[in-house]
Amino acid sequence: RTRVNIGIIGFGTVGSGTVKVLWEQKFEIERALGVTVEVVKIVDKDWIRSRSIVIPPSLRGEDPAEILNDDSIDIVVEAIGGLEPAFSIVKEALERGKTVVTPNKELIAKKGKELLQVALQSGSELFFEGSVGGGIPIIHALKEQLLGDDIEEIFGIVNGTTNFILSEMSLKGVSYQEALREAQRLGYAEPVPTMDVEGFDAAYKIAILASLSFRTQVDVDQVYREGITALLPQDIDFARELGYVIKLLAIAKKDKNQLELRVHPVLLPSWHSLASVNGVENAIFVKSRTRNLTFIGPGAGGEATGSAIVGDIIEAIRNLKYSCRGRAGYNFTANFPVKPMKE
Ligand code: HSE
Repeated sequence: RTRVNIGIIGFGTVGSGTVKVLWEQKFEIERALGVTVEVVKIVDKDWIRSRSIVIPPSLRGEDPAEILNDDSIDIVVEAIGGLEPAFSIVKEALERGKTVVTPNKELIAKKGKELLQVALQSGSELFFEGSVGGGIPIIHALKEQLLGDDIEEIFGIVNGTTNFILSEMSLKGVSYQEALREAQRLGYAEPVPTMDVEGFDAAYKIAILASLSFRTQVDVDQVYREGITALLPQDIDFARELGYVIKLLAIAKKDKNQLELRVHPVLLPSWHSLASVNGVENAIFVKSRTRNLTFIGPGAGGEATGSAIVGDIIEAIRNLKYSCRGRAGYNFTANFPVKPMKE
């Protein structure tokens, strides 16, 4: 194989960030893989809104079928977000034998197991590094390096928007609304910001992390969830005066073979290592029987998430080139009851 063709479905912040990184790194990627890598079609409903890169009209399309029906396309990047039509598109692409790369946390949290099964049956492959931690390669670490670890706990800051809002309010005295608007302008926030500020996004992400860490299928509805909307500016000010900061944490831990799964604001002493993770940064701690690890990096944004997607594309191309798709050792057979959490 000397050439791999890519189709992109959804061309917002993440889709355009991905194409930008792919084009900027094209020489390095092709040199490393010994394969020509071409984006041959980009599909979006709206070609009017402005983006950070200009796409030649010949590459533009409006209907996902233009990519799904094209047998020359090997890899599909789904960057639409949300459950539908993303689920139907990803499923069909996998059934048609295409490799799919998606940063869609809601899709993976709710339908990941089913889609991995479809991929297994059709001999295709599904990658989702960008779904948690934006530019932090935590999924790859969990499914490869840490596959043999006995993970006891995984927790951290997994939503860039709320971390940005809390940091801006605490460090700069910016108002909640202003900070949220800025997060939206920078492309961190979800199209419906409730997903971020009410903790849904963090709940999807911790469900994915817990499923991989504990080799079980965590149902996202079992995650106790509390966002940041009930916090008052005074809470943040009082916390600071007392030497604390408020962070929205997502926590998954094994406690006597029961799983504890929760997302809520936490008061952290200012000396705590998570307290200084500010702005759009995410931080994920993994505690296994043999090692403690910390991953810190950009948690959202087009190019950071785009880089994670490009990392997946590189792995996908390598697997296509060496005919070894489906190498990843997923195992969701463990069964831990989830501890009920009190309000
Ligand atoms: N809205 C998400 C966040 C984007 O703020 O973290 C990255 O998943």
